[in-house]
Amino acid sequence: MKFFVDTAEIDAIAELNDLGMVDGVTTNPSLIKKSGRDIIEVTREICAMVDGPVSAEVTATDAETMIAEGRKLVEIAGNIAVKVPLTWDGLKACKVLSDDGHMVNVTLCFSANQALLAAKAGATFISPFIGRLDDINLDGMDLIQDIRTIYDNYGFETQILAASIRSVNHILDSARIGADVITAPPAVIKAMVNHPLTDKGLDAFLSDIKAAGIKIL
Ligand code: E4P
Repeated sequence: MKFFVDTAEIDAIAELNDLGMVDGVTTNPSLIKKSGRDIIEVTREICAMVDGPVSAEVTATDAETMIAEGRKLVEIAGNIAVKVPLTWDGLKACKVLSDDGHMVNVTLCFSANQALLAAKAGATFISPFIGRLDDINLDGMDLIQDIRTIYDNYGFETQILAASIRSVNHILDSARIGADVITAPPAVIKAMVNHPLTDKGLDAFLSDIKAAGIKIL
């Protein structure tokens, strides 16, 4: 399973990247706004740091302008994935940009039928939003499972990029189902290390190290 980091914060990406935890990055207009940075400038910095795909989202809603924006975004670096919304115009832009040979991430996916359309339009990634479905009392993991089944039934190569991840259990469940990629905020990825028995066990070892005066260096 690939790990993408869902942020436009350079320091947070760098910390995880140094550990080999970053297979790619996803941004969106809200994350760019939060960073307070210029989209082109910050995206260029991220692309220079990370080898894998870096998703940068278009701002237009009509296909023609989305395509023009996508063509400008891919000039930033060779690892840009153009992010387009799951609308009819977004699918048109996806088809054109994919046919041009660019990576396309179709975002704001909330149904398996939408995911089927994105795959038909040649999307490299489909981004189903788990957390936002959970927010309205639907089960986001059911969507991941449905898309996995449908894509496997027909051999679609579009990668399932589980997005809107809010908890470590979202990551675990996505891995169980076989999502190709998860994108999560840095804090959620870092929280995967936590276990109370690890803390308890380490406390006991530290106490014995002190009591026995064990030294290595
Ligand atoms: C994915 O590409 C999106 O940027 C992101 O996962 C959305 O997450 P949110 O629902 O927590 O805003």
